[in-house]
Amino acid sequence: MIVVLLGPPGSGKGTQAKRLSAERGWPQLSTGDMLRAAITRGSELGRRAKGFMDQGQLVPDELVIDLITERMKQPDCGRGFFLDGFPRNLAQAEALTKRFEQSGQEIGRAVLFEIADEELIGRLTGRRSCEKCGTPFHLASKPPRRPGVCDACGGKLVHRDDDREDVIRKRLAVYHAQTAPVAAFYERDGRLARIDALDGPEQVERSLKRALGIS
Ligand code: AP5
Repeated sequence: MIVVLLGPPGSGKGTQAKRLSAERGWPQLSTGDMLRAAITRGSELGRRAKGFMDQGQLVPDELVIDLITERMKQPDCGRGFFLDGFPRNLAQAEALTKRFEQSGQEIGRAVLFEIADEELIGRLTGRRSCEKCGTPFHLASKPPRRPGVCDACGGKLVHRDDDREDVIRKRLAVYHAQTAPVAAFYERDGRLARIDALDGPEQVERSLKRALGIS
């Protein structure tokens, strides 16, 4: 199944995509992780994306659409995948629909993680993410077993440059202005499910599975 995960920064999309991806074998396609990997590699794409990301702005559509289109062609995507962080505005949603019309693929479900903005600042300022595999931890609610080291792959945990409070507030403003309308786009064709993202991770996982009709 192809699943679109929608929700504000810090709502838990990456956390849940990683949990279900490990269980179901549907890869997590995170445009944020791909862009950060490009920055770490020092590629031209990373160089162009970094300024936008550090400011909490969206990276230009043409860069992101090409990136995700190439990734979706990889053999591991054959049985389905999670789109985490894409589409992020209406132009990206329309580009995705067009691409799927050409390839004969279809989105099974778009799931909106609902949570109030005030809850997200603490989640993101306390987040530490693995530099290598992107797994998110939290200093208070999900600390790693060894400080600074990823439980999943042994990579180094870092505080993302865009997880500072001033940038988080800009990302939230961008979310409400540009990404929230994508939920209405999928609601119109009956594909949208909403889940309460304020619950703990186990309950959110149950809600997500219910929304996807899997157990
Ligand atoms: P991206 O990397 O996609 O960031 P985001 O959407 O802002 O999402 P986050 O990764 O911040 O949050 P999340 O919902 O995955 O939460 P998580 O599970 O980590 O994008 C970054 C930037 O890249 C963008 O600003 C933009 O510049 C660019 N970009 C990316 N895609 C783009 C696109 N398509 N177009 C243009 N530009 C693009 O959880 C957060 C924290 O909360 C963690 O510490 C976690 O442990 C904790 N937590 C998770 N779930 C729970 C829970 N249920 N209860 C308590 N704590 C929880």
